[in-house]
Amino acid sequence: METLYLKSDNPEAAQTAAEILKKGGLVAIPTETVYGLAANALDGEAVKKIFEAKGRPQDNPLIVHVQSLDEIPPLVKKVDERLYDLAREFWPGPLTVIMEKSSLIPDEVSAGLDTVAIRMPSNPCAREIIAKCGFPLAAPSANASGRPSPTRAEHVIGDLGGRIDAVVDGGECDVGVESTVVTLVTDPPALLRPGGVTPADLERVLGKIEISHAVFEKLRDGEKASSPGMKYKHYAPRAQVTIIKGSFEKYEKFLKAHNEEICAVCFKGEGRHFDKFIEYGSENSSLSQAHDLFDALRKVDETGCKKAFVRCPSSDGVGLAVFNRLIRSAAFRIIDLDIKIPVYGLTGQTGAGKSVAADEFKKYGFSVIDTDMIAREAVEGPEIINALCESFGADIVAQGKLDRRLLAKRAFETPEKTEILNRITHPAITAASISAIHDAEKSGARAALIDAPVLFESPLTAVCDKVICICADKQTRLGRIIARDRVSEQEALLRINAQKDEEYYKSHSDVIINNVDLNDTVAQIAKTVKEELI
Ligand code: TXA
Ligand code: MG
Repeated sequence: METLYLKSDNPEAAQTAAEILKKGGLVAIPTETVYGLAANALDGEAVKKIFEAKGRPQDNPLIVHVQSLDEIPPLVKKVDERLYDLAREFWPGPLTVIMEKSSLIPDEVSAGLDTVAIRMPSNPCAREIIAKCGFPLAAPSANASGRPSPTRAEHVIGDLGGRIDAVVDGGECDVGVESTVVTLVTDPPALLRPGGVTPADLERVLGKIEISHAVFEKLRDGEKASSPGMKYKHYAPRAQVTIIKGSFEKYEKFLKAHNEEICAVCFKGEGRHFDKFIEYGSENSSLSQAHDLFDALRKVDETGCKKAFVRCPSSDGVGLAVFNRLIRSAAFRIIDLDIKIPVYGLTGQTGAGKSVAADEFKKYGFSVIDTDMIAREAVEGPEIINALCESFGADIVAQGKLDRRLLAKRAFETPEKTEILNRITHPAITAASISAIHDAEKSGARAALIDAPVLFESPLTAVCDKVICICADKQTRLGRIIARDRVSEQEALLRINAQKDEEYYKSHSDVIINNVDLNDTVAQIAKTVKEELI
């Protein structure tokens, strides 16, 4: 089908849109929040087409848009008096109110629930179209399901061009994130989705409200969503998104410690520090972040980067809506670089005796973060297992268990394959290591010591205040490997030669400990802790 393009300032636009809607068609319309994909809310057959065009899950109900309060009584079982209080304050505007529905609302709109979500948009063009129709419009955001919501007509055309009858271009949306959703059906009323109307705004009118925990967190397995939209993957560009908490300095250092191209999604004025970047709003203005967010997420893919690291917004006021959308686009991946205890890296060549040194550091209250162990656990995550199966064959999982030998055999076949393995596993290892540092901090450790054989190639270098290198001469290391792992001299030499040379380790470290004689090592560590570390 050809999608008719109409400009909102064309005097015929609202009339043409209304005619299409009266015939049961679909029209994308501008609102002050995001573009909506509208159909006659009282016509179940028309509403079905919305789900088809978007690829929307059938159990996710739609919002009904009205342009005057008079339209509401027939749509609900009984008008809750508090609706008028809310309307006086926030309508027309970015607020959606859930009430018990009347039989006029088709099941297609409410997705089988006995409630209905109603909102009165402020965008003049949207209001004119509803008025010309003479019936309310059911409209979800006009994106393909799962994609960021559209804040410009071109986003709608990109996602749904050819699948809908018309789009009315009203320019950029003011607010930029979808409306606040509040339900009056529960006692106390509950905020199901944050938006342009903040929790504090609502409480001024309604008194104490509850904030659904789904606003901040992933739903627990099997948990029923109070708002079905909360349970789906959302707002996601194709690139993998991770939220990074902490100062700009920490963010910059962390991004630059990655040796792959990453798109920095940061605040105004920060982008110039990076090769590939998108700015979204100013650091101190949640309103500007909300306005820019979805367009920024869409632009991430235009940079060609496979990963995007997003500066974490404040979650106060409208910021709560920004955070809520971002954390979904990041599939709840968040890395907190705000670490309050000192962090040291511990590295060294194989056989140099890192574990012996780590045990000694523990005596001083250091918590050891064992990246080998973390790596072993991290690859067991379902997302990683799936990605590994895709790249290395489904048979690397047998009877529900990862066959590590088979995986290793395939992944170490060529440097390219090793690179793929690293790309899949490293982000999870980095994230889990940093979260282990926070656990150490909470348990009262004096410092965290990251024990990592390949620390310099890892973004974890960015969180280290200093790096300690454990060294031993080649003959000593050779003897230790043979004794420890019961391998031939040839095999031990192979492992030694596969690593970078001692000079490389030393030149990248701040502190060097020579571990040949244990008593001497213990003395060097005592001196290091006293003079160079905390
Ligand atoms: O700003 C907005 O609200 C935009 C514009 C177009 O008005 N619309 C919008 O619609 O964001 P949509 O469909 O993308 O999101 C509607 C949200 C979903 O999370 C849905 O689950 C929830 O509202 N919802 C709708 N009816 C509901 C109901 N009866 N009970 C609970 N949640 C409901
Ligand atoms: Mg939506």
